[in-house]
Amino acid sequence: MAMTAPELRWTRVAAQLHDALASASAPLCTYVYDLEALRRHAAATAHSLPPGFELFYAIKANSDLPILQTLAPLAHGFEISSGGELAWVREHFAEVPLIFSGPGKTDAELASALDLGVEALHVESLHELERLAWFARERGVTAPVLLRVNLAIEGLQATTLMMGGRPTPFGIAGDQLPACLAWLRAHPEIRLRGFHFHLMSHQLDAAAHLRLLDAYLQQVRRWRAEYGLDTLDQVNVGGGIGVNYREPERQFDWAAFAAGLPALSEQRDGLTVRFECGRYITAFCGYYAMEVIDVKHAFDRAFVVACGGTHHFRTPYAQGHSHPFRVLPVESWRYPFSRPGVSDARVSVVGQLCTPKDILAQDTPVDSVRAGDMVVFPYAGAYAWHISHHDFLRHPHPRHCYLPAEDADAAA
Ligand SMILES: Cc1ncc(COP(=O)(O)O)c(C=O)c1O
Repeated sequence: MAMTAPELRWTRVAAQLHDALASASAPLCTYVYDLEALRRHAAATAHSLPPGFELFYAIKANSDLPILQTLAPLAHGFEISSGGELAWVREHFAEVPLIFSGPGKTDAELASALDLGVEALHVESLHELERLAWFARERGVTAPVLLRVNLAIEGLQATTLMMGGRPTPFGIAGDQLPACLAWLRAHPEIRLRGFHFHLMSHQLDAAAHLRLLDAYLQQVRRWRAEYGLDTLDQVNVGGGIGVNYREPERQFDWAAFAAGLPALSEQRDGLTVRFECGRYITAFCGYYAMEVIDVKHAFDRAFVVACGGTHHFRTPYAQGHSHPFRVLPVESWRYPFSRPGVSDARVSVVGQLCTPKDILAQDTPVDSVRAGDMVVFPYAGAYAWHISHHDFLRHPHPRHCYLPAEDADAAA
């Protein structure tokens, strides 16, 4: 099976931006989401999984309604991490299967998870278990639970964003698991369905990720034997598949990863293995486009000052990278005086915030960029708008444009 990272459909995005520019009365700043690209990528990813493996989408990456509507028929369900996400999803999707992860769940969140039919709660501590059991007893129901465990794994290959395998606030540390399992034996109002692991994000190495899954499944096998756990039906192996922003041509090799999954089937002992991926599903479908307001020099550097900034698109700052971009030339020029610009130069692209940290790309070569052109950042569909501090300086919010998905049957 050949499957590469999804193609970026620049022509379609550029046509949309030219249309938007024609109707813009102020400098243009917009997100563009290519829902057809999203549909194809998510379908290919889900269909590449062998029997016994399921794909959930972690909506924290991008919970916009058109994104969720595109993904709902393709994913097995959604992973949510707050009462706000739970209410949002249930308002629009009455039936979609939900799993609820995340630290610091409040009483109200635990109670609504039970009331709104969440399929499994990923519990982070004994105290959270006790509170959940209390609400389950009150309602006369059994709460379906996976214990999230922070495992120490020998030789663990770290990424740039580690949620476990080291001291973190996430999950139950391995040495506290026996106490939790003993407590569960005396509390039938909780049904232990399995274990949950999410030790890292930004994984770019398919072979390392297969080894990690293998370690998870072996550990679960040992716990089942040691503690006689006979109610388990699943292992949730988290999300964490990365997007290579620094070297976009070298993406996670999903085809090799999917090809390696059947070999893990022996370890899974009949348990369903669930993924809850966010970034890898939606990053590729999004573009953040900014009209260039000014091009200027300071000392030996050239700066492209564009409409918007990290308050809309925090991804490069959050991950500490220089984000790749393309210049979309725009020929119309509204002023009677000359147009600032540079050719064959290295530029930094900055936004409108009054801070030297408002940098989206640094020291990047361009053929040409002028005021009035658009700079367009791809890979902006995940942890982009949704992790940004939108109201800093009270600039207007960008537009959000969703290029429609084609009819799946017609496109087949
Ligand atoms: C528990 C959990 N699951 C899934 C995800 C999604 O991770 P990613 O977007 O890297 O796939 C996260 C992200 O923080 C997480 O904390």
